[in-house]
Amino acid sequence: MTPADRLTEAEAAAELARLAAEIARHDRLYHEQDTPGISDAEYDALRRRNDAIEARFPALVRADSPSRRVGAQPASGFAKLRHRVPMLSLDNAFAPEDFAEFCRRARRFLNLKDEPLAFVAEPKIDGLSISLTYENGEFQRGATRGDGLEGEDVTANLRTIAAVPKRLAGAAPALIEIRGEVFMSKTDFLALNAAQQAAGQKLFANPRNAAAGSLRQLDPAITAARPLSLFAYAMGEASAPVAATHWEWLERLAGWGFTVNPLSRRLSGEAEAAGFQAEIGAARAGLPYDIDGVVYKIDDLALQSRLGFVGRAPRWAIAWKFPAEQATTLLLDIAIQVGRTGALTPVAQLQPVNVGGVLVTRATLHNADEIARLDVRIGDTVLLQRAGDVIPQIVAVDRSRRPEGAAPYAFPDHCPVCGSLAARAPGEVVLRCTGGLTCPAQTEERLIHFVSRGAFDIEGLGEKTIREFHAEGLATTEGETFHLRGPADIFRLPAHEAAIAVREGWGALSAANLTRAIRARQRIPLARFIYALGIRRIGEANAKLLARHYASFANWRAQMLAAVQIGSEARSDLGNILGIGPAIAEELAEFFAEPRNVATLDELAALLQIEDAEAPAAAAGALAGKVVVFTGTLQTMARPEAKALAEKLGARVTETVSRKTDLVVLGADAGSKARRAAELGVRTVTEQEWRDLAGLPAQA
Ligand code: IVH
Repeated sequence: MTPADRLTEAEAAAELARLAAEIARHDRLYHEQDTPGISDAEYDALRRRNDAIEARFPALVRADSPSRRVGAQPASGFAKLRHRVPMLSLDNAFAPEDFAEFCRRARRFLNLKDEPLAFVAEPKIDGLSISLTYENGEFQRGATRGDGLEGEDVTANLRTIAAVPKRLAGAAPALIEIRGEVFMSKTDFLALNAAQQAAGQKLFANPRNAAAGSLRQLDPAITAARPLSLFAYAMGEASAPVAATHWEWLERLAGWGFTVNPLSRRLSGEAEAAGFQAEIGAARAGLPYDIDGVVYKIDDLALQSRLGFVGRAPRWAIAWKFPAEQATTLLLDIAIQVGRTGALTPVAQLQPVNVGGVLVTRATLHNADEIARLDVRIGDTVLLQRAGDVIPQIVAVDRSRRPEGAAPYAFPDHCPVCGSLAARAPGEVVLRCTGGLTCPAQTEERLIHFVSRGAFDIEGLGEKTIREFHAEGLATTEGETFHLRGPADIFRLPAHEAAIAVREGWGALSAANLTRAIRARQRIPLARFIYALGIRRIGEANAKLLARHYASFANWRAQMLAAVQIGSEARSDLGNILGIGPAIAEELAEFFAEPRNVATLDELAALLQIEDAEAPAAAAGALAGKVVVFTGTLQTMARPEAKALAEKLGARVTETVSRKTDLVVLGADAGSKARRAAELGVRTVTEQEWRDLAGLPAQA
């Protein structure tokens, strides 16, 4: 291939036409069919070549050039970008004890004794996190966090932000991903809202929403006109090590031209955290931007990498939040919502009140226990609190202002929608409608979820249409009524196109369009399919993890049924998928234990083509797929670290030695498990041999 800088003008024009078509084809494969035709790196190379040729021949930039197409994707308006390293979130601490517990856990994991644990503390900015990729020092692309695995490509918009260096100052690795928080200062936010108001435009609720709304503009010119700032704070992928401590990393960032929050501080031991927390808490109101806490990160990057992640959060960092903002208002009524899973959720209807800059009219009361605990009654004056992004909560009731005659709230013992008994599962606080799929509210919520954006995303079949079709049914030509009873019925709608066409507001054309939209979705990627099922705790991100792990519908189904029947082993396999915890494994087992759910699955599978997910990169290495047991006392690392490391390398760690065990690692004073291994002829290794297998350096 001729390098971009040696092409003649005619060759360049032909090459740009070829690249536009080629990139568009891959975009369609990736975004519309979720089946990438080439690797991310190959795709990036195509785009880079396109950019390079356009940079040399700006007059040749085509109307349909991929470089102009940022924001042209139908789903959200932005192309998706997969993060090379997932963008995770942080666990929260709310009190000194939480922070102390976090430190204890890290120490236990690392087997630390009394040596101090150094931290870097950074104010936690209330903005939106982004990831910036630099190749050979040049800014290439940037994305929002999205679901943590995949964000929106907002490169063109990020280029308009002055605080995003277009080129790193000084030497940098060939590839580096830099993460930080895009935010808007309080004064800029107020000025923007004043301008919005003057122009009759919609107002933003808070600086964070203003920053997000400004960055996610399809027209970069709008973003350019908005005052956005950036603090850089974290590292994604790096092709070469750049620092040994987080503090050094922040210094590198500053050296490259990023703004690092000047209030960040290195703490030589955890004892200094409380003081810093108080100091920043006192400074908070006077800061030019919103913060909602302080992030504490273990300074030593080697320790960070040993600690790794659990679920979606690192074991080496924690966000210590400030107390929530509060306000008082009147409780006007309590409404009961029936969710997708039948949970009856009481929702407080409030006299509108401003809490920390946000107008609140409703608050969750969680469940019957919570109402009883608070003894909250209609007409009460209540203390409301809002912490960061979470739904506002009622924290207390002002008894002295209770109107006379206010009666204790009687929580309904029947579903307000279908009248079925509302019951509590053993050990659960939530009352659930027992109507299951016979409860119209549950069925309706499930159907709405099933066709929603991240699920089947059927054009022309939104919440409103589902509610109508579900509540009223469709009068068929045979004089009968077709009811939407379950998700499979969605795919039977095309058979009733004529009945839809005659409905008010429809017509032949929109009915035909709906048929086409439904048929178009009969091919569906496994992840979307799993998400669409609406299993509790299986959001889009978990659905993707499951799809990548199990690869095909048939395999997933079989493994899940095995998990229900034989329990522990397949369930512990579930536990080995990064990010899937025991609570999620339980939900899955529960879903598959219900024969009606399996029947629905099979009914759907017969109507659909469920596409296999990209198989996870086969974990190579000596421990991949092995069943490992640790016994005795390890000298060089604590048990939790050994277990986490084995799992990271693809092994499954169990407690008991059986014929299925591949390897027993013998620590000091190994007892019965070592004997059992010998009896069964299971391979045993010393701690040093285990370190070799895990690729760790030898230790004295
Ligand atoms: S570090 C794996 N540092 O907080 C660690 N996050 O709750 C990744 N945030 O999504 C995050 N200031 O949007 C980090 N100094 C800071 C931060 C910060 C704000 C946000 C960020 C992240 C969220 C996690």
